[in-house]
Amino acid sequence: MEHHQVDLVQRSFARAAKVAPHVAATFYSELFAIDPSLRALFNGDMVVQGEKLMKMLAQVVDNLHQPETILPAVRELAVRHVAYGVEAHHYAMVGTALMRTLRHELGTEFTAETRAAWTDAYQLLSETMREAAYGASRAA
Ligand code: HEM
Repeated sequence: MEHHQVDLVQRSFARAAKVAPHVAATFYSELFAIDPSLRALFNGDMVVQGEKLMKMLAQVVDNLHQPETILPAVRELAVRHVAYGVEAHHYAMVGTALMRTLRHELGTEFTAETRAAWTDAYQLLSETMREAAYGASRAA
């Protein structure tokens, strides 16, 4: 990703992270609106789950200038997700829920440019995860 795009993602995430519990709750309600059956995959407290998600996203976002430092941990995360019952096609739904959440949280600051930068960042994250978990041939 280009430097400017990484900056856009980092600045917008910093704003959203100030209200992290709220962002996480919005994210899961968007996700379960897209596919209510996904709710059954989650067994724990959703507030705790939201904290884990936001912490992991923060690590990815913080390291977007040097993604190779974080990608091994991302691949391990993806492999753990197979055991949670997560399938390759779920990643697109999570991407949609994430974009909707950011649009709600950032309002007019979620410009077309910021949206495009997030699309690239999520593509990098989700492609890395799907490849690690399901293999390159099923990553598309
Ligand atoms: C795209 C990037 C994603 C990130 C950064 C992420 C992050 C996390 C983290 C940090 C955990 C805590 C457990 C662990 O570290 O192994 C977790 C658990 C989980 N995630 Fe994700 N996740 C992602 C994608 C997905 C997708 C696509 C799904 C599909 C619905 C999903 C469903 C789950 C489930 C079911 C759990 C376990 C919940 C439980 O133990 O009850 N995640 N995720």
